[in-house]
Amino acid sequence: VDADGTRVFSLEAQSGTTEFVPGAASETWGFDGAYLGPTVVAERGERVRVDVANALDVPTTVHWHGMHLPAEMDGGPHQMVEPGETWAPEWTVDQQAATLWYHPHPHGETEQHVARGLAGLFLVRDDAEAALPLPREYGVDDLPVIVQDAAFTDDGRLEGAAQGFAGRLGDELIVNGALGPYAEVRDELVRLRLLNASTARTYAFGWGDGRPIEFIATDGGLLEASVDLDRIVLSPGERAEVLVRMSPGERVTLRSVMTPEAAGLQPAIGGMNGATDEFDVLELRAADALDPAPALPERLVEMPAVATDIAETRMFRLDGFQINGAAMRMDRIDHASTVDTTERWIVENTSSMPHSFHVHDTQFRVASIDGAPPPPELAGWKDTILARPGTEYALVMRFEDYADPDTPYMYHCHLLWHEDQGMMGQFAVV
Ligand code: C2O
Ligand code: CU
Ligand code: CU
Repeated sequence: VDADGTRVFSLEAQSGTTEFVPGAASETWGFDGAYLGPTVVAERGERVRVDVANALDVPTTVHWHGMHLPAEMDGGPHQMVEPGETWAPEWTVDQQAATLWYHPHPHGETEQHVARGLAGLFLVRDDAEAALPLPREYGVDDLPVIVQDAAFTDDGRLEGAAQGFAGRLGDELIVNGALGPYAEVRDELVRLRLLNASTARTYAFGWGDGRPIEFIATDGGLLEASVDLDRIVLSPGERAEVLVRMSPGERVTLRSVMTPEAAGLQPAIGGMNGATDEFDVLELRAADALDPAPALPERLVEMPAVATDIAETRMFRLDGFQINGAAMRMDRIDHASTVDTTERWIVENTSSMPHSFHVHDTQFRVASIDGAPPPPELAGWKDTILARPGTEYALVMRFEDYADPDTPYMYHCHLLWHEDQGMMGQFAVV
C-alpha cells in the first residue's frame, strides 16, 4: 500500500521454461514466473494500481477480464506495453465479490499469448461475501481451477495443438499449470473457482461419481441461492464457483464430459469442435479427519430483477468470424453507449458453430434465450456467455461511471483465434 492508500501490485510478463513432464522443458511465458501468474486479491472500494512490466521481447497487454474500470485502464489492444516498458493502470474496485481474471489482449495475437501461459486470477472480495460462512482460505478450502488444453510432443514438450474451426484444441488438460493434478483437502466443504482459460475449448464440468455440482457463483459474483446441476458448461473466458462436500478419506474427480448437445451442435460436427471429448480435470483427496462445514443460508445475496429501463437496443449478429458483417478495425469505434444508461444487446449466432460472446467493462444479465427465461446457471451476473448456433440471447447491461469518447472498450468472441481473426468490435461510453 503506498502513501495515498493505493494498493500496489506488480506483474512482470516473462519467458521461461516449464517442465509439465519431468525432464522435458517447454518454452513458456508467465507473469512473475514461467507459466500463468499470481492470483491478485483486492477488496471492493479499494484503490488499486498494477505495475505491469514487459520482459518479453514482443509487445503485449494485460486486460482485466470482468472488471468495471475506465477504458484507458482496461488493457485492451490500445494499451500496448512495449518490451522493457512498464504500464501502471489504476482504478477503484467497485463491484461485488467475484472471480475475475487477467490475460493479454494484443490485437491479432491474443491466442498465442494466452496459450503460452499468460493468464491469472483476479479475485474481488466484499463485505457481503465475507459475512457468509463460505470457504475462503485460498489454497486450503478455496481452490483455483484454471483449465487449459494443450498438445505435447511424444517426449513431453508443449507444441501447437491442431487447428480446427474453433481454434486450437489440445488433447491434454493443464490445470493450474500442471498435468494430472490432485488436491488434498481437510475441510468438509470446499470451494472451487473454475476458470476456462482455454483458447478454444468448451467444457461441461461434473463430478465423476455423479453427485450434483453445487453451483454458487457466475462470472460476476454470487447467485441468489446455490443450484444443483448435473454439469456446468463453460466456454472460453467464463468462470463458475462451485462447492463440494467431502467425506473423510474419499476421493472424487472433477471431469469434463462434453456433448454436441451441450455445445448446441449437430452430432455430425461435434467431433470437430471437441464436443465429444472427455477429460479428468482435478482429483480431490480428503483427509481422514475433516473440519466440519457450517450450514449455509438459503439466500446468498440479493439478486435484483433484470433492469427494464432500456435506453437503447442493439443487435449483434455473429457469423463468419465477424460481428454484424464487419471485422474489427483498431481505428473504427462501432458505437457509443451513453454513460449511466441501461442497454439491451440482442446477440444472435447465425453461424453453424458456437461462439463465446464477451463484453468489457460491465456485468450483464441474460434476460432471455430465444425468448425464454435463462436456466438457473445463467440467472446471475455474466460478462461472457456461450452463444450456441441458431440461438438469440437478450443481454441487459448498464454502463456506469466512466465516460471517454476517445478510448473504446471491446466486445468479441472469446474463442481467441476468432477474436484474432477480427471477430471483435469497439464501443465507447460517452
Ligand atoms: Cu478475456 Cu476482451 O477479454
Ligand atoms: Cu474482457
Ligand atoms: Cu467465435
